[in-house]
Amino acid sequence: MEIRLTKLAKRAGCAAKQPPGYLLPLLKNLPPVTDPNVLVGSNTSDDAAVYKLSDDLALVHTTDFFTPIVDDPYDFGAIAATNALSDVYAMGGTPLSALNIVGFPDTLLEPEVLGRILQGGAEKCKEAGIDIVGGHTIKAEEPIYGLAVTGKVHPDRIFSNAGGRPGDLLVLTKPIGLGIITTASKNDADPLNAIVEAIVLMTTLNRAASEAAQVVGVTAATDITGFGLLGHLRNVAAASQCAAHIEFSKVPVIDAAREYVATGIAPGGTHANWRFLNDWATYAEDVTKEQQLLLCDAQTSGGLLFAVAPEKADQLVEELKRKGTPCAAVIGRLTDGTSGHLAITR
Ligand code: CO
Ligand code: CO
Repeated sequence: MEIRLTKLAKRAGCAAKQPPGYLLPLLKNLPPVTDPNVLVGSNTSDDAAVYKLSDDLALVHTTDFFTPIVDDPYDFGAIAATNALSDVYAMGGTPLSALNIVGFPDTLLEPEVLGRILQGGAEKCKEAGIDIVGGHTIKAEEPIYGLAVTGKVHPDRIFSNAGGRPGDLLVLTKPIGLGIITTASKNDADPLNAIVEAIVLMTTLNRAASEAAQVVGVTAATDITGFGLLGHLRNVAAASQCAAHIEFSKVPVIDAAREYVATGIAPGGTHANWRFLNDWATYAEDVTKEQQLLLCDAQTSGGLLFAVAPEKADQLVEELKRKGTPCAAVIGRLTDGTSGHLAITR
């Protein structure tokens, strides 16, 4: 009998991520970053760290890994790699090389399964134009896979979380609902077989989106992963010392996710995000709990979220469409107001 990878994972993909409410108080107690060459460190909850080497060159450092989000080992490897590379793209960077991070239950699974996971990761990195140059593997109870990625960026052209300004429009490049769909699939509750579309989305590199934003110029960027659209938006708004306003009706949502969330399906990570965000988000009365959960849904390998000056927004949307990103939707704006506060209307 074939063992389903997702059955080995207690929590799948980025939904396994510790919620921000758990980590932030712990990080506060650590010694602060003092190296002046660290252009972006951990204090802005950014996607990756940036280390300046010279006036025109900085390195981007990031790592992401998780337990199986899908059953097929090759797809799992490709999704994990796409997701790890995404943090470099979210900084406006270009990946240079990557290292594998692997945990594998060698008593439960055949070595060929690991081979397929690594193959999925390596081929996705080739698509991104880089090689996996090494890694580290340990025995583990659950399969774990991801990458540590090194990239480069010009120090003056970093997309940080902190550059947004009141009035900037917010643009999203992949629809949301991936956490709900992968959870439905894991629980054999995906009659629409939406996992197929979800895998296509989760293995779509955010490279085109990042390149479009590099051409047009954006004020802030992040990728939408485990903290959900609102959680990552909160990080951008707080780092930019702005508030934000989202119109739910403008947010692209995968159709099947709307159906499944109405039947009560959502990952634990999504509920944890929703609880954390209750301190930050104010929902209009006609925004239903299900719509709130969609906005908080823990994504794995979601799209990029950009803040862009209003006069450049049309150009950005056009450039994203020309490059064929899964979507290119203006979903709201940054506003004056309490730093990190989110207002959600229908
Ligand atoms: Co990120
Ligand atoms: Co990350």
